[in-house]
Amino acid sequence: MDLFQAQLPGQTFHDLLRSWRTKSPVQEITFMGQDGYMLLSYNAVKDAFQDNENFPPHTVYTFNPEPQVGKTFISIPDPEHALYRQLTMPAFKLKAIANYDTDWVEQLCHELIDRFIDEDNVDLQSAFSFRLPILVIIRMLGLPREDEQQLHEWGAGILAYQNSHELAQQCGEALANYLEPVIEQRRQQPQNDIITELTQAELQGTTLSNQDIISHVRLLLPTGAETTYLALGNLFYAILKNNLWQTLQQNPELIDSAIEESFRYETPVFSLPRMTGTRDFEFYGKTLKANRLCFFGIGSAHHDETVYDDPDTFILEREQKPPLLTFGPGIKNCPGMHLARKELKIALQALLQRLDNPQLLSDTPSEGSVLRTPPALHIKLR
Ligand code: HEM
Repeated sequence: MDLFQAQLPGQTFHDLLRSWRTKSPVQEITFMGQDGYMLLSYNAVKDAFQDNENFPPHTVYTFNPEPQVGKTFISIPDPEHALYRQLTMPAFKLKAIANYDTDWVEQLCHELIDRFIDEDNVDLQSAFSFRLPILVIIRMLGLPREDEQQLHEWGAGILAYQNSHELAQQCGEALANYLEPVIEQRRQQPQNDIITELTQAELQGTTLSNQDIISHVRLLLPTGAETTYLALGNLFYAILKNNLWQTLQQNPELIDSAIEESFRYETPVFSLPRMTGTRDFEFYGKTLKANRLCFFGIGSAHHDETVYDDPDTFILEREQKPPLLTFGPGIKNCPGMHLARKELKIALQALLQRLDNPQLLSDTPSEGSVLRTPPALHIKLR
């Protein structure tokens, strides 16, 4: 089986991973015709995140997304990685996001809901989850909302690199041409947005050129939008499937634990790609060959029965111990996690407030072997 093509919906994938995991914490796999590995147990995945010599964190990103987005901190090693990450991401830090006035995010949610609230049914994925995160990142960057559709297409094209290199290249170039005059304009007339912050950023004498800013925006737009979309879908599916809508309406203090449990139950970046280093090495009883694709099976680790009780059950008030690996506990630990958590919470609160007793019209669990979310979420509204 080539994992690239496999959809593996819901429990099908978890059962397959369990059958592999009970034999060994490391599985040989095929992905896009290439031989590689998948790390399956919680401990193997956690340890691999700390082992930067055998699993150098940046190399895989030189194949994707660097050719489409250009040089950014995601595809360069430390110390430049740390420097450019610090230069470009201050707006996403915990304190910045906590202090950020997000009333407009709530308003955006309600605007999206207004468009379907009078219908009999709706696909929550296309009408809400797919649209909200791109609108949020567009607004934070300071780009006009009317360009949503165009920016979404370019972002999706960049991410769909594995399906079409040419399209990804074209989308990257189109986005660069679009951004160049915006950046120049922000240099002349600063505004209260991230593009302006990037034009003013300075650290240890390093500043960002227009090309640096274009590349980092080309990175942030799709990474910020896509992963949060996946997470929203996984969260809503779990709540609807487990009939927890009314429980959460009546007990809003459980919203945070619902979000965390959805990160465990179906984690959006389900299998995180890495490359092995330049030498063969021993890892959890197997010899791993140099320069091979190796997926960190975050989704598998989250269903490892040796560390989580009853892992295939969504338990609303589960204490997440040991800590989840959703955002990658290594040097590339997701800088967008505070924004993602906040967005998920505001979105769920808005939907709980507006939709009474929505019901799944068909059972469409999360699918995909690398990135994972339901293909659609058709719900009955009345
Ligand atoms: C629920 C939503 C999200 C999930 C599950 C997620 C997951 C991850 C994971 C697992 C990593 C680690 C990658 C590695 O170790 O190679 C990562 C890194 C990253 N994430 Fe997220 N992410 C999410 C939201 C976001 C958002 C909203 C943004 C941007 C605003 C973002 C931007 C990034 C960037 C730029 C990196 C690379 C960090 C580095 O190279 O140091 N992510 N994310």
